[in-house]
Amino acid sequence: MVKLAVNGGEPVAKDLSRMIPRWPLLDEDDVKVVVEAIKGGHWCRLYPGSYAERFEAEFAKYHDAKYGIAVANGTVSLELALKTLGVGLNLGDEVIVPAYTFIATASAVTEVGAIPVFADVDPKTGNIDPKDVEGRITERTRAIITVHFGGYPADMDALTSIAKKHGLYLIEDAAHAHGSEWRGRKVGAIGDMGSFSFQESKSLTAGEGGIVLTNSDELAERARLIHNIGRVIGQPGYIHYILSSNYRLSEIQAALLLSRLGKLPSEVKVKNENGKVLADMIKRTGVVEPTGNDDRVTVRGYYYFVMLYKPEELNNIPKEVFIEALRAEGVPVGVSYGPPLYKQPAFKRENLVKSIPKYILDRMPNYERLNLPGAEEFARRELVLPHYLLLAPREAFELVVAAIEKIKEHVDELQQSVNRLKVSDATIDTTYHR
Ligand SMILES: Cc1ncc(COP(=O)(O)O)c(C=O)c1O
Repeated sequence: MVKLAVNGGEPVAKDLSRMIPRWPLLDEDDVKVVVEAIKGGHWCRLYPGSYAERFEAEFAKYHDAKYGIAVANGTVSLELALKTLGVGLNLGDEVIVPAYTFIATASAVTEVGAIPVFADVDPKTGNIDPKDVEGRITERTRAIITVHFGGYPADMDALTSIAKKHGLYLIEDAAHAHGSEWRGRKVGAIGDMGSFSFQESKSLTAGEGGIVLTNSDELAERARLIHNIGRVIGQPGYIHYILSSNYRLSEIQAALLLSRLGKLPSEVKVKNENGKVLADMIKRTGVVEPTGNDDRVTVRGYYYFVMLYKPEELNNIPKEVFIEALRAEGVPVGVSYGPPLYKQPAFKRENLVKSIPKYILDRMPNYERLNLPGAEEFARRELVLPHYLLLAPREAFELVVAAIEKIKEHVDELQQSVNRLKVSDATIDTTYHR
């Protein structure tokens, strides 16, 4: 008799881990470029024609942006974007951010001395809900940060028009969205400033790294100055025009990024095509629903393949138990971040007092009271697969579907095991499992 793997049966997708490429990807020519960079003797970007300079130009070009400023990670890139726009210079400055995202989207706001205001997200995509954004604008709002959740572009038409109407800056946190397109335009260069991460799990990576993009000459110049402790790159001597920090990216990472960037467009193409194939296959199971059907999204770069769990189609088996059962069958599934951000311990008053100056804290909302329906529903239903699964051959997708179908067929057996199956951590392992 066939048994669920979670109960000791044979995992139906046991060959999946062999089919999914090991992340991060690395070719011999990447190694060659990195070795060249090391042997070149310039490990910091402060020389003409640096790898960082070349990477900035190439990455900006790929994303249809005029300028790029490479930095140490995708958290400080958000901080750099906010500082460049002057957010946080006035006491009480507010920035509207999505309630469901990685914490850096909100912590970057507090790091520059401003106040994050959570807007609800669309429960179908996890992207910020433009209507909810508009209702949260006050005379202190300076900017909106949108995340393209999982690589699925947010509604840039609505957000651009709201930002314009209210005189606000629009920042794109595109940490998930390398190569994604909104109506034929790459995201990250549609708003005033865009921010990307090159952390190990991301579609383009050097272990750590980040970049800000902009089309504005003035903002690019200011960002470059801020990222280099107020010093003009290329200008001799120690003249600092502004008090700031050091956000620079190392040359070794820049060399690796430059090499990997050459392969990104073809990887995005494959993931975009395979994402559609997998979505069609998964939809037919009826148990999970792939997200996103907006025609204005012309390319999905993918960080996560996001799905919504439908427990009502599976005897109301809790999501965590479904995850455990699927993992046992060999599918690297999980949740992205868990609860909405306002439920993080960091947003409890008792912890805010440890990180936020009192004069700012006094102006902050009580985050503990928030309960945003879209974010709550998305958190309840969201399931994700890692993006590099989409680089696997199609047979891999058949195994994912076979695992879901197997669980569906054996739902009674799973029901009997529910109380035994305690899930310690449902979070996806973005750097994989072999
Ligand atoms: C939406 C989002 N913003 C910002 C970041 C921060 O990037 P980093 O990890 O490079 O600091 C991440 C990283 O996971 C992210 O997912």
